Amino acid sequence: MPEPIQAKMHVHPVTSHWVDPRLFGSFVEHLGRVVYSGIYEPDHSSADVDGFRTDVMELVRQLGVSVIRYPGGNFVSGYRWEDGVGPVADRPRRLDLAWHALEPNLVGINEFSKWAAKVKSQVMAVVNLGTRGVDAARNLVEYANHAGNTYWSELRKHHGVLEPHQIGLWGLGNEMDGPWQIGHKSAAEYGTLAREAGRAMKAVDPTIELVVSGSSGPNMATFPEWDATVLDLAYDTADYLALHVYYGNPERDTLNFLAKSIELERYIESAVATADFVQAKRRSKKRINLSLDEWNVWFHSHGEPSPTEWEVGKPRLEDIYTLEDALLVGSLLLSLLRHGDRVKIACLAQLVNAIAPIMTVSSGPAWRQTIYFPFEQVSHFGRGEVLFSETTSPTYASRQFDTVPYLDAVAVLDRPSGMLTLFAVNRCPDQAMALCLDLAGLTPLSSIEHWITTGDRADVSNSPLSEPIRPVKSTPVALVGSQATMMLPALSWNVLQMKVQ
Ligand code: AHR
Repeated sequence: MPEPIQAKMHVHPVTSHWVDPRLFGSFVEHLGRVVYSGIYEPDHSSADVDGFRTDVMELVRQLGVSVIRYPGGNFVSGYRWEDGVGPVADRPRRLDLAWHALEPNLVGINEFSKWAAKVKSQVMAVVNLGTRGVDAARNLVEYANHAGNTYWSELRKHHGVLEPHQIGLWGLGNEMDGPWQIGHKSAAEYGTLAREAGRAMKAVDPTIELVVSGSSGPNMATFPEWDATVLDLAYDTADYLALHVYYGNPERDTLNFLAKSIELERYIESAVATADFVQAKRRSKKRINLSLDEWNVWFHSHGEPSPTEWEVGKPRLEDIYTLEDALLVGSLLLSLLRHGDRVKIACLAQLVNAIAPIMTVSSGPAWRQTIYFPFEQVSHFGRGEVLFSETTSPTYASRQFDTVPYLDAVAVLDRPSGMLTLFAVNRCPDQAMALCLDLAGLTPLSSIEHWITTGDRADVSNSPLSEPIRPVKSTPVALVGSQATMMLPALSWNVLQMKVQ
């Protein structure tokens, strides 16, 4: 057995910032089997009266998803929201050009809002600024949010939805800088359209908040110039700037892959600098925060053949995740917690079946991927205040990164319950880590509970039949004074919890 590496974490009783619960959001797009045979499968043995799979709803509830972005993604840029309301038998079947699929429109904004309420999530609705514009966007806000006595709100009531959905958060289009996007635009075209659509939407309902599309990723040639131009044009209507990012490991280089959370932090910091540059340029009092409304690991399904037939709910992007993917997802969540002063919304893309923590077998069970667990734990225990902390750890160099600490850790305090939670990743592939915790300044009232997620190899996955990767409770450790030493296995995700005063 190699000697454990030695690391330290000193947690101070001082608040760095509060975590916005919307950091634990996700994403449901009309794509592959996310909706059809994902959340919605009327013939399934667990389906409720509305056709929704209750087994999936239960897993979504356990995951603690605060807000869900809908209905896309690339899909939204060709979507007519009116197709998805009214009597189902009258709804048109359309070609979805984004994913080369057939869209039967069995689920639309009313069904989705009902489902979101059942899973206790808020909706973040995205409007189509690809093929459509100001009129369709403001009509959708009126249909969804206006109480009554107008054409669109009365139509909603006529469709059986008497109370407005009160959707508070709206996305202005999707990845409009991407050449793949239907209705792709220049920054000046999109910024002007986003400003005007947003202005009309807020005129219908001044309580809503708006997310303007930034570049579709940090490696796009458009970043960050696009973001600055769009923000400059739409500053007065926008509330958040959208960021999207996915990480892959096609080279199967574990150490380099696990350091990608450092890349996310650089991306966030660059986007913050861009937003603040525009604020300074405009001499504005208003600060634009960030919405990382698509993020995840995505590469296992890269290279899958493009569909040739027009089909409903054909499997797409069904990445099967491994232990190392779960460790990176955990580490990315720590980067989000650390930057929670400016990242207020984040959506794990996506929720079910396509690049998702929850998978379904059509007519069969729903099951949890490896990435389900770090998300579930951070979404439950990462709410509250991020505390200032210092960590010391040996480091390594990888292909892309010069100095990567083996330890990645964040401390969050839920003051009302007095529960202090430390999340920690040991990135080292072959050595355990002896982590010496120092809580001087906080008075511990209990021993430390420790849940460990690890596995025999970096590439182990879960399946409908077995769940080798899941948190396992270890023996509680007593503190001596304000200190304790915890053992974090090689390649592990750890949750350490104790009551403090
Ligand atoms: O999440 C899958 C796709 O990734 C989304 O539709 C799009 O916005 C992004 O490129």
